[in-house]
Order: sequence, then structure tokens, then C-alpha cells
Amino acid sequence: MKNIPLVDLRGQYAPLQEEVKEAIAGVLDGMNLFLGENVFQLERDFAAFCNAKHAVGVGSGTDALYLGLRALGVGPGDEVITVPNTFIATVSAINMAGAKPVFVDIDPDTYLMDTSKIAAAITERSRVLLPVHLYGQPVAMDRVRMQAEEHGLAVLEDACQAHGAEYRGARTGTLGDAAAYSFYYSKNLGAYGEGGIAVTDSRDIATQLQLLRNHGSSTRYYHSVLGMNSRLDELQAAVLRIKLRHLEQWNEARRALAGEYNRRLAGLPGVVTPIEAPDARHVYHLYVIRAQARDELLEWLKGHGVQAGIHYPVPIHLQEACRELGYEDGDFPVAEKVADEIISLPIYPELTTTDVDYVCQTIGDFFSDRRTERPAAATVSEGGTRE
Ligand SMILES: Cc1ncc(COP(=O)(O)O)c(C=O)c1O
Repeated sequence: MKNIPLVDLRGQYAPLQEEVKEAIAGVLDGMNLFLGENVFQLERDFAAFCNAKHAVGVGSGTDALYLGLRALGVGPGDEVITVPNTFIATVSAINMAGAKPVFVDIDPDTYLMDTSKIAAAITERSRVLLPVHLYGQPVAMDRVRMQAEEHGLAVLEDACQAHGAEYRGARTGTLGDAAAYSFYYSKNLGAYGEGGIAVTDSRDIATQLQLLRNHGSSTRYYHSVLGMNSRLDELQAAVLRIKLRHLEQWNEARRALAGEYNRRLAGLPGVVTPIEAPDARHVYHLYVIRAQARDELLEWLKGHGVQAGIHYPVPIHLQEACRELGYEDGDFPVAEKVADEIISLPIYPELTTTDVDYVCQTIGDFFSDRRTERPAAATVSEGGTRE
């Protein structure tokens, strides 16, 4: 039986290991461990990768979101509008900033923020729109920006899963006032530990971020604001500089594999494949299908050596940790329905088309045993890549 993991860190490391070991040895030889040449060079390289003016390396994607909110002036009493279909960190960061998360439901085709629902969520306390480019697909940002301009709000992109994604030819990181990226190990660009980066075109926001990540200090022991310790370290930055040179090619490999999955799964009753929205360049951090009998399919795949996942099984408004926000079952029906049906199939640049064949064959075998229908919803697309 095959064994296909959800992500394959060893496969990515193998061809890079000599270079990575040399870079790590270089940092240890110099013993300059924080905010040194590797971090500053990575910041320049990553800003260039996004076509943005500034990037500020921080301790994690969560910190990039939190510090991004602080740099945008968010504080207690403010509201930040986001989605319930995201990783909890989006909402933890809002909470850390002392603000209140306000949710809008997701689009039934892309599973991203339904931009037509933003207006109804805006109040006089709203400060920031926080769309999440989940799975590697950018949100329809022209509509987000339009609403932001109309209501005087700032826009912070959660691009933690979307390194290199594009909307209408512009990279994530340039689609709002600032953006947050994660370097969590499994991301399209992952560190060998924790890391994150905030990207912006604004010099003022970048200056704020630089201060806030370093205890509000630009001169040692003189502090102009209360910040925190969230400095990306030199070892991670040295590794990330090497990996960044491969990111474009890795993203293309992911896109090609997604195309292979789409072709092989097309028309399979019981399965809805992901769409790439017309203005989007999706970088497939995750390849997420919707499936009937999802939980049984997950077990079946595991039993056949395929490690699949669910991103995410419980929408944030229904998480125990968010009970105090007062949301209830039924408040965001699209997010709730999608959470019951989604399943993430293995995707990483080193995955082979033979592996994709095996995964799709295993899914086909599962459904051939059952009489199934597609997940019912008039609004659900037939799937596949949209032209
Ligand atoms: C959508 C989203 N937002 C925020 C984060 C937080 O990033 P980190 O784990 O680096 O703190 C992650 C990743 O884990 C994420 O997927």
C-alpha cells in the first residue's frame, strides 16, 4: 500500500540540504542571531516577491496579524470584520489587539469572504476589514477595497496561506493596507521553526511594525510605544532566503497538480472540486474538495495510506473559545455547511502525478460502492477551473 502524507517536509529538504546546512553554519559562525543581514535581506527579497515596498519579519503569522492590526491603529472597542472559515489565529490576533471580531459568511463557490455581505456587518465601531486568502486563493479584493473606501476602513490581508497568490495580476501583500504571512513549516514558504512577515506599501506602517516587533524601540532601552518581542531570527531567515528562490516554481508545481486532480475528479458523483475564480491566481496551499459522506471518505483514505485533512472542521463562530461572542448555529449557514463537507487532499510540489492518480482512484473506489449525489445546493458550482 502507498503512504501519501498531507505534506512532505523531507521531500522538500532533500535537494536543499547542503545549501541549508551551510547557511545555518554561517549564522552560527557569525553568532549574530537576531535582526541581522539574513532578516534584512529576506525582507527585501520577500517585499520584491510581493511587488511591495516594505516587509517586516516577525515571530509568526499570528504576530504579523496582531502587529498589523496595532500598526493600523486598532485597539479596545474597535471591530474587525472577518470570516468564520479560517484558522483560529485570525481571530486570536483580533482578540490580542483588544478588538472584537465580527463575522460575515463565505461565498459558496470559493469558500472565501462573501463580499456582498460586508456592508451589513459594518457599524460605527468597525475599523478594519480582514479578508482571508484561504487555501491559497485571493479574495475578490476590488469589492473589499471599495467597501473600505466607502466607510473609511483599513484593509489587512490574512495572506498566511497565500504566498504568491494574485488578484487581477497583483500579488497578495499589495491588495490592502498591509498583509500578514506565516512561515509555519507546512506553508508554501515554510521555516524550520516559527516565523512570519508583514508586508505593506506604506512607510509609516512599516516603521510602526519595526518598532512594535522590537519592544517599541529603535534605540536600545528607549521605547516610544509598548510593543512586544516578535523578531524573526537569523537562522529562520537564512533558511527562508534559500527556499524563497524556489517558491515560484513550487507554486507552479502546486497549480499543475491541482489541475491534475481537477481533471481526474471531474464528473465523479459525490465530489465537488475547487474553483479558481476568474480574476485569481490560486497557489493551492491546500487542495480542498467537498465530498458526500466526508468523514467516511477520510477514514477510507487513511485506510488506503492517504493522509487527508479538514481545514477546518468547526467554523470559528461555533468554537468553544468564541462562545462569548454570542453567535449561534445557523448564523453563517454557508460556512457551517462547507465545514461539514470539505476535505483537503495531499498537495505539495514533490507529489507525483502517479500519487494523484492513486488518491483519485481511491476516492473513485469509495464512491463506486455507494449510490451518491453531489452535495446539494443550488448555488454550489460544478467545480473545475473557471476560465
Ligand atoms: C489563515 C491563517 N491565518 C493565520 C495563521 C497563523 O500563522 P502562524 O501559525 O505562523 O502564527 C495561519 C497559519 O497557521 C493561517 O493559516
